[in-house]
Amino acid sequence: MEEIGEKKEPLVVLKNINKYFPAGKEKLHVLKNLNLTIYQGEFIMVMGKSGSGKTTLMNIIGFLDRISEGSYFFNQQDVSKLTENKKSEFRNEYFGFIFQQFFLINSLNVIQNVKLPCVYEKKKSGREQNELGKKYLAAVGLGDKAKSKVTELSGGQQQRVAIARSLINDPLLIMADEPTGALDSETGTEVMEMLKKLNQHGKTIVMVTHDKDLTRYATRVVYMKDGRFLEEAIQ
Ligand SMILES: Nc1ncnc2c1ncn2[C@@H]1O[C@H](COP(=O)(O)OP(=O)(O)O)[C@@H](O)[C@H]1O
Ligand SMILES: [Mg+2]
Repeated sequence: MEEIGEKKEPLVVLKNINKYFPAGKEKLHVLKNLNLTIYQGEFIMVMGKSGSGKTTLMNIIGFLDRISEGSYFFNQQDVSKLTENKKSEFRNEYFGFIFQQFFLINSLNVIQNVKLPCVYEKKKSGREQNELGKKYLAAVGLGDKAKSKVTELSGGQQQRVAIARSLINDPLLIMADEPTGALDSETGTEVMEMLKKLNQHGKTIVMVTHDKDLTRYATRVVYMKDGRFLEEAIQ
């Protein structure tokens, strides 16, 4: 969380990036000369039709995939200079991921799911992990569900568990790919209000959506078409 009046620093700086996927003897040009800077404190939404490259872009930003050409600096560090081990470590430390399908582990209870990023990190004691787990579950309104099975929860509750999980390592950037895509509109609104509150408390968020009604939650919207940005709208 930032102090009021703190200078906004660029968190993500993508310059002239291209991404190709192999397709037989050809290659598929999926991201075309994109430039994007995400500043601390922004709530950026990426909109565009299916196949326009939104998830590929998110995967690149979150160190889940690499660029083919161009440069990527995250928090002033050249991502291309990081080893795969360092990238995995930083991914867990810097990013919180929220997906359309929640991706919770059904064999673990609610708080065990929330604690997972701490378990990978191996830096905090078990007691600290429990305290943080409880804190973030309470923050998403599920303080009484710590020991519940994931499968006993509604879709909206499961997404709130995923939000608590995304927050537990106090990440620099929350990445949400269609976080309301599997929810009805009322539950989706609850999730959006929660993301809005996090942003108002200083969290930087980048979110993919199809739903233009949700752009009112964004501080900036970028539109993609066929691997390019169409225009940028400052709200
Ligand atoms: N791993 C992959 N290998 C080959 N092609 C891919 C891969 N991932 C995505 N694509 C292709 O890249 C394009 C953009 O996909 P994607 O980034 O998933 O778009 P969106 O999230 O906007 O629907 C699509 O044509 C898709 O088929
Ligand atoms: Mg997608």
